[in-house]
Amino acid sequence: MKKYMIQTYGCQMNEHDSEKISWILDGMGYELTDNREECDLIIFNTCAVRKSAEERVFGQLGELKSLKRINPNLILSVCGCMMQREDIREVVLKKYKHVDVIFGTNNIHKLPQLITRHLESGKTIVDINEENREIEEDIDANRKYSYKAFVNIMYGCNNFCTYCIVPYTRGRERSREPEKIIEEITLLAKNGCKEVTLLGQNVNSYGKSLEKKYTFSDLLKEVNEIEGIERIRFMTSHPKDISDDLIDCFRTLDKLCDQLHLPVQSGSNRMLKAMNRKYTREDYINKIEKIRKINPDIAITTDIIVGFPGETDEDFQDTLDLVKEVKYDSAFTFLYSIREGTKAATMEDQVPEKVKHERFQLLLDTLYPIGLEKNERLLRKNVQVLVEEVSKNNDNILNGRTTSGKLVHFPGSTDLIGKIVNVKIDAVKTFTMEGTIVES
Ligand code: SAH
Ligand code: SF4
Ligand code: F3S
Repeated sequence: MKKYMIQTYGCQMNEHDSEKISWILDGMGYELTDNREECDLIIFNTCAVRKSAEERVFGQLGELKSLKRINPNLILSVCGCMMQREDIREVVLKKYKHVDVIFGTNNIHKLPQLITRHLESGKTIVDINEENREIEEDIDANRKYSYKAFVNIMYGCNNFCTYCIVPYTRGRERSREPEKIIEEITLLAKNGCKEVTLLGQNVNSYGKSLEKKYTFSDLLKEVNEIEGIERIRFMTSHPKDISDDLIDCFRTLDKLCDQLHLPVQSGSNRMLKAMNRKYTREDYINKIEKIRKINPDIAITTDIIVGFPGETDEDFQDTLDLVKEVKYDSAFTFLYSIREGTKAATMEDQVPEKVKHERFQLLLDTLYPIGLEKNERLLRKNVQVLVEEVSKNNDNILNGRTTSGKLVHFPGSTDLIGKIVNVKIDAVKTFTMEGTIVES
């Protein structure tokens, strides 16, 4: 059997795309391996959101040159968001001539055909579909876990935040038909799936491209009815599109997890305007207050960019103040990275790297104690945990997540994997907690 490996970078969209690629390769008779040396095919599913992600891919591609020399039959393929960019494709074609197959985010389904074309011609095959608006429904996915699954509900983004490359790589927003989504989740549930994460760049604007009037809340309500599904999560929401109807779902839908990832990016109204985020700091805080009124224990997480062009000490202080006011459970923090082709790339007043790094550290110093404080609220409490896997470092320890998305370690046997258990929290740290299973 031929062996393959997929190296995935970037967000959950890419992770799920890799699960689809894996399913396609299974159908072609390929078998997964984690040993590069025995691979017949290596695929890099790339991310273009920051320069650092791109540099890592280029580094890896360079390293594979020697492996190709040892094994000339190895097929090397690059796909994902970086490949949706013509300028980057050109770099790959010019500098990494040992790459054999290049494809984009819209034509994963063509992979068997592309591999065949390469094998027949011996040439580098490039196949990109820049503006595909059609949604490919016939690809299944080789999901990593049987009890939790990513499900795409929409693709692309129309928001054009001035720093962001995603609208250029993933194209315009388009929603899947609700029937198809429900069908997929129903089948997953029949096969033992308990938790679904609905995926999209901006899930709250789900449905806008559909013919009938159907919103994200409508979809959540339908998913909540599916027998067997016990937990529903979604990623990502844009603060400008959080409707009262959606907020109310946290009260009415018993399966909706008490977790909301709501990227704020900055606490300064001046920066939010320059970023084209279309909400103010006050709008944002107001929405958080509404959500907490429904459930004060909802875990709120966010994304923050440090050092956007023109960010002053005062603007940055506004971000720190907002973090203290909202009290996030955790946050993904990023140093602003120039993305050619976006509006912010040509803005004046780019912030020096040294200043960005100093602010970044200050931000972490502010976030971490708050995160710990939030976790401490769960000390000695009993929480429901979906058991996910055995801990990497200790065979007797299991890992699982609370409905609020927090990672818990606890002793237990492997037959509990995929089950929901009651765990008493004995100790907490900033990012994880420890507990023991108790009778419910
Ligand atoms: N669609 C999602 C996620 C987009 S990418 C959303 O809108 O929230 C994930 C995160 O990467 C963004 O939220 C942002 O914080 C960060 N990001 C995007 N472009 C960036 C850039 N040029 N530099 C630094 N961080 C960036
Ligand atoms: Fe990028 Fe903004 Fe779209 Fe998110 S909402 S993907 S940050 S353009
Ligand atoms: Fe990266 Fe593309 Fe996701 S740019 S963050 S992999 S949508």
